[in-house]
Amino acid sequence: MGSLEGRVAVITGGGRGLGREHALLFAAEGAKVVVNDLGGSAEGGGSDVSAAQSVVDEITALGGEAVANGDSVTDWEGARRLIATAIDTFGDLHILVNNAGILRDRLLVNMSEDEFDSVINVHLKGTFAVTRHAAEYWRAEAKKGVEIDRSLINTSSGSGLHGNPGQTNYGAAKAGIAAMTQIASKELERYHVRANCIAPVARTRLTEATPGLGQVMTETIGSDFDSWHPANISPLVALLASEKCEFTGHAFRVMGGEVGLYQGWTVVDQVESDSRWTVEGLAAATKHMPAKAESKVSGKHAEKAKANRGE
Ligand SMILES: NC(=O)c1ccc[n+]([C@@H]2O[C@H](COP(=O)([O-])OP(=O)(O)OC[C@H]3O[C@@H](n4cnc5c(N)ncnc54)[C@H](O)[C@@H]3O)[C@@H](O)[C@H]2O)c1
Repeated sequence: MGSLEGRVAVITGGGRGLGREHALLFAAEGAKVVVNDLGGSAEGGGSDVSAAQSVVDEITALGGEAVANGDSVTDWEGARRLIATAIDTFGDLHILVNNAGILRDRLLVNMSEDEFDSVINVHLKGTFAVTRHAAEYWRAEAKKGVEIDRSLINTSSGSGLHGNPGQTNYGAAKAGIAAMTQIASKELERYHVRANCIAPVARTRLTEATPGLGQVMTETIGSDFDSWHPANISPLVALLASEKCEFTGHAFRVMGGEVGLYQGWTVVDQVESDSRWTVEGLAAATKHMPAKAESKVSGKHAEKAKANRGE
């Protein structure tokens, strides 16, 4: 019996990349899957429901159960329809994986209003919109006395948790998604909902286009363990989705065979005064603190990426 037997899942952006791998693994583990995908370009333009439908066809050909949805996660009514599709088709909703995403990278000084708004819209508002409608259903079920484990899995990024130059829009959205996950885990616990997010790294059309990274990611193709393969991300997502999992409120970093647990913003040093600081007094007291902030990422892939950047 699969780890997701009888569970109903919605996966946004499930037509390609990571979302497609999540959908295929979820179905193989016994879940009934609503594969959502707008089917647009990597920058968010256009739409094509065949992206979601082709994954549904793959799943059904393997004997699984799935249905396609082509709504945009940014559309409030579309997000409502997406959640309703799960309930109307499969009778319930246990798992929501917010994964849909686009990229419109630009240095802050050159970024246009549209580049900022569109990325915030898909990632931050899109994650909120679908979660909001799912939460309404989960609250109603809990109020009826149904005590079933529900799992929300959001997709953050190292870009938001560590800060990636060129991604003011995307990084801000992804940091916001990590915060939204923590809040959801606290607010929705009473409705039996666990909430976690992942910060993945894998070869997809989004990373293939990243200068320097795209080339490195193809080097493992054909090797015994293709560590950049997008399917490497999905076992963690399936684990977080499974009924037996107890994790909530966490962010995980996942790439290849590495799965790391993040600790959120943590106060690591402090100065104290019994009265209000003067500016000069505070300057003197904080002199020992590092002038420049650094974020730490461990693991052999991170070390390799650092070396590639010449750090
Ligand atoms: N690939 C990585 O290394 C990496 C790293 C960090 C975070 N992520 C995140 O993982 C998620 C999946 O990205 P991917 O790398 O698989 O890219 P991808 O482009 O292969 O897949 C993203 C999918 O989302 C869909 N989508 C975009 N906008 C949508 C919308 N408004 N409504 C519904 N669907 C929409 C796209 O059509 C696409 O099929 C994204 O949130 C991305 O930011 C990926």
